[in-house]
Amino acid sequence: TRKLCVIGDPVGHSKSPLLHNTMLKALGLDYVYLCQPVPRGQCKQWLDCAKFAGYAGFNATMPHKEELVPLMDELDGDARLIGAVNTVCIRDGKAYGYNTDGEGFLRALDDEGIHPAGMKILILGAGGAAKAVCLKLVQAGAQLTVCNRTVEKAEELCAFDPLHMRPAGFDRATLYKEATACDLLVNCTSLGMEGAAGQFEDFTFLDGLKTGTAVVDLIYAPAETELLWQARHRGHKTVNGLGLLVNQAVLALEYFTGQPIDAAEMKKLLADKLP
Ligand code: ATR
Repeated sequence: TRKLCVIGDPVGHSKSPLLHNTMLKALGLDYVYLCQPVPRGQCKQWLDCAKFAGYAGFNATMPHKEELVPLMDELDGDARLIGAVNTVCIRDGKAYGYNTDGEGFLRALDDEGIHPAGMKILILGAGGAAKAVCLKLVQAGAQLTVCNRTVEKAEELCAFDPLHMRPAGFDRATLYKEATACDLLVNCTSLGMEGAAGQFEDFTFLDGLKTGTAVVDLIYAPAETELLWQARHRGHKTVNGLGLLVNQAVLALEYFTGQPIDAAEMKKLLADKLP
């Protein structure tokens, strides 16, 4: 039996053990997927342990994704582009870093029939999750406006590709104006997660959206955030973060095992295990 795990600080909330163990069992693969708390700043020590203990690989959640980057022997294109590693494979004592968040997001959109090429997309948030999403959307040929409470962080993110990314503020008037101009809205802020207080102060900016504009939230718990509820009641198609969660895990498992995995089949399998 080979070992896999997720590291984080905290890590107890992670759905990765449930997702991966369910998939491994269904696929008849001889791995076990554990949950390993690793304190901030201890990734180097953890990586040495993982190599010594014969781990095949691991996933990383907050706050380790950036910390792992300089510790990798090799980085794949997306990990390098995004500057964050969420999947590490250990082969012959060497660490290979991948990022499956951005590609997982694009696949989740594709599963919903949303094709970002040529779209004008309004992104809310400019943190770690927004970065993975934005850089892959730009690569896919979209034009982005990034609205963030701390506008400096939006400016910093948009400096990556000023031709295709434009920073903006987070006030009601700005959000409304940007909503009128977009073909897709994606919430990448951490607002609205389970346990957090109210999501947005007011949702009138959604009234600016054109008919047919879909609204995506990266959050999967709760399954319907207030933003998605408000958008659905205004007649918009809504997509939560479950597709991203499942797709990034399927891609990670493909890297761990080196074998192709049927994502559609895994989605069906995982559907009743998740909220
Ligand atoms: P993640 O990894 O989930 O992206 P993060 O990097 O901490 O987490 O980013 C959180 C995002 O949610 C940021 O865009 C943050 O805005 P700031 O850059 O201004 O902090 C946004 N966010 C969190 N709380 C917020 C709030 N109360 N109002 C508006 N935006 C908020």
